[in-house]
Amino acid sequence: EIYLKGMTGAVPRLPADPSRLAEMAAARLGPGPVGYVAGSAGSGSTERANRAALDRYRIVPRMLRDTSRRDLSVELLGTRLAAPLALAPIGVLSIMHPDAEAAAARAAAAQGVPFVLSSASSTPMEQVAEAMGDGERWFQLYWGKDREVTKSFLDRARSSGFTALLVTLDTPLLAWRPRDLDQAYLPFLRGVGTANYFTDPAFQAGLAKPVHEDLDAAVLHFVRMFGDPGKTWEDLAFLREHWDGPIVLKGILHPDDARRAEAAGMDGVVVSNHGGRQVAGSIGAAEALPGVVDAVGDRLAVLFDSGIRTGDDVFKALALGARAVLLGRPYAYGLGLDGQAGVEHVIRCVLGEFELTMALSGHTDAARLTRDALA
Ligand code: FNR
Repeated sequence: EIYLKGMTGAVPRLPADPSRLAEMAAARLGPGPVGYVAGSAGSGSTERANRAALDRYRIVPRMLRDTSRRDLSVELLGTRLAAPLALAPIGVLSIMHPDAEAAAARAAAAQGVPFVLSSASSTPMEQVAEAMGDGERWFQLYWGKDREVTKSFLDRARSSGFTALLVTLDTPLLAWRPRDLDQAYLPFLRGVGTANYFTDPAFQAGLAKPVHEDLDAAVLHFVRMFGDPGKTWEDLAFLREHWDGPIVLKGILHPDDARRAEAAGMDGVVVSNHGGRQVAGSIGAAEALPGVVDAVGDRLAVLFDSGIRTGDDVFKALALGARAVLLGRPYAYGLGLDGQAGVEHVIRCVLGEFELTMALSGHTDAARLTRDALA
């Protein structure tokens, strides 16, 4: 399609290369928004490890195997996805673009990939659901101290058509993130990242005065209940009791934790280190993937994120045993640069390159990639 349009002299507005996309975002959007997305924990060593871990695996292409028909679809959490990709939960997307989560969600729906909405959305979940029509959507829970708010979030998500629940376990506290510290986390503190909370009846019930009458008190209440480092595996029973759809634990890096997820009746895990934004000095997420797949991969849905930039990254994650991947930072840059169209561009580039990578290395079925494809 791009080459054909090129015949008329039209070239794409955004680059196909994710590094150039990030550079363009840095140049056009400025240090505040880009610092929020690009920032990671400590000196950035985990984010670098994510890339190094994926780069260590190399694809070994095979020749003369009819690849004229290709199937990107995969079976996951009881549904068939057109492609092994979903948009990762990213909080406060209003920092990148005024249309924020609604634009990203519409892009996902238009491209037929699931959208995972963050608890820390700058748009209430009901509005995001409305923007998506019947597009597949999953809700990401930040599992805070207030049980009533958690229950209310689950009720709202269920009635807004979110089918699966992703529970992020790696963020009971916000990590040491120098770029956010240097900005004093202003976007959050101004309240833009808290629309799901501020519009929530259970959250509002915990306030002495309405949000608009005492914003400082509301923000303080939010900060106090947002994370809960006291949670343990036993607490998962509460979520199992209040959510009847699939539950996926996000942030699993150890095979024993994957086994505990299974024992707790969970349906899947996301092997992820939050894009290197939580524990500095941790292993690259792709290093953890084979061990988790070996532990639970034939019984639980294993998803992967942290470092996915290109189609060959998707290929490697699937060959290592992930059922699907979550795409993070690249779509946030696409959103910042060109709203919904920018996100669609990024999704199409990654999937286009993934399909070509499969075909050129001799594979036709995304659901059947195995480690044999890698060295
Ligand atoms: C995130 N991530 C994240 N995860 C989550 O569960 N809830 C959230 O609200 C957020 N917010 C968020 C904001 C920003 C700016 C980024 C970059 C990431 C983590 C996200 O879902 C995913 O795990 C990472 O983005 C994967 O890393 P890469 O591939 O983007 O580097």
